Formats: sequence, structure tokens, C-alpha cells
Amino acid sequence: MHLYSLICAIFCIFALECHGQQYTFREDPVLPYCGGRGSNQVDVRGNRSERREAEKIIAAFEGDYFACSEKPKSLITHKEVRIDLQDAVGGFERNGKRWRNLQLQQNGSRREGYPSTVATVLIECNKPFPIRLVRKAFVDSMTKCAMIWLSQ
Ligand SMILES: *[C@@H]1O[C@H](CO)[C@@H](O)[C@H](O)[C@H]1NC(C)=O
Ligand SMILES: *[C@@H]1O[C@H](CO)[C@@H](O)[C@H](O)[C@H]1NC(C)=O
Repeated sequence: MHLYSLICAIFCIFALECHGQQYTFREDPVLPYCGGRGSNQVDVRGNRSERREAEKIIAAFEGDYFACSEKPKSLITHKEVRIDLQDAVGGFERNGKRWRNLQLQQNGSRREGYPSTVATVLIECNKPFPIRLVRKAFVDSMTKCAMIWLSQ
């Protein structure tokens, strides 16, 4: 493995530019492993129908701004999956910014100790984002099995 991809697999940050505005995209791999008992995320990479359900809700999702003061709730619900604003009012602070926790969840019966989260997007609150970046964050989280941090 090249050194760069090794570093990137551990901690990857890159900037995306959109209409002159810079956005920061950071990947944090789901540790210690992705999928299965004790993991924070379901690994849907080997299951086409689970991926399709997730892709459909990501494509339908319109959320591009999340207030720090917004109450936690389900933002969009399909039969098999939903996207939740997961954390408490106010969000949380990290690296001098305030964040909200968005989670794409499976709506199945959750087995004890097994995750139901398919994708995790930590997004800076009180800031607007291009919807395509929000959707990319969900897709990347799912396909790379990483938590994605999206900020300005
Ligand atoms: C894919 O996931 C669905 C829904 O969770 C499940 O019913 C199905 O058995 C899975 N398919 C495979 C090949 O694992
Ligand atoms: C998803 O949620 C709906 C409504 O709460 C429920 O009727 C349905 O059975 C759930 N689907 C699965 C796969 O659990």
C-alpha cells in the first residue's frame, strides 16, 4: 500500500470547492471494524438491495441546512430506511465548531449488539451546504464505511 493511501485510510481530509466556497470533507473510518456485532455501522457493501434502499433515500433527501437548535427527529422515512437527526438540541462541539449528527438507519428489528446505522454524517450546524455534498457524504460513509465530517 502506498504511504499516502495508508495515511488516508487512517485520517483523510480534503477540501471541495463549490461556487467559490470551500467545504471540508473528512473521513473517519468506522473502528475497530465495520459491520457485525459491536460495530457502529452496518456494512451494506456486499448487499445490493440494502445499498439500493439507502441510495434511494439519499437521492430523495433534501436537507442542506441543520440548525444547532433543531430538535432530534426523523427527517425522512422510507419503508426500510430513514435519516435521523440523532443528537440532542445544541449539537456538540469539536475543533471549535458545532456539529449535528445525521444517521441513515435501517428500519428493521435491531438485533442486540448489532448496528442499524448504514451511514453517519457529522455536519456543521447553522451553515448551508450544497445538497450534492450532503448526499456525497452519505454515499461515501456507506461505501467507505467511514464517518464523514462535513464543514465550511
Ligand atoms: C440483503 O439484505 C436484506 C435486508 O436486510 C436481507 O433480507 C437479505 O437476505 C440480504 N441479502 C444477502 C445476500 O445477504
Ligand atoms: C418500518 O417501519 C414501519 C412503520 O413504523 C413498519 O410498519 C415496518 O414494518 C418497518 N419495516 C421493517 C422492515 O421493520
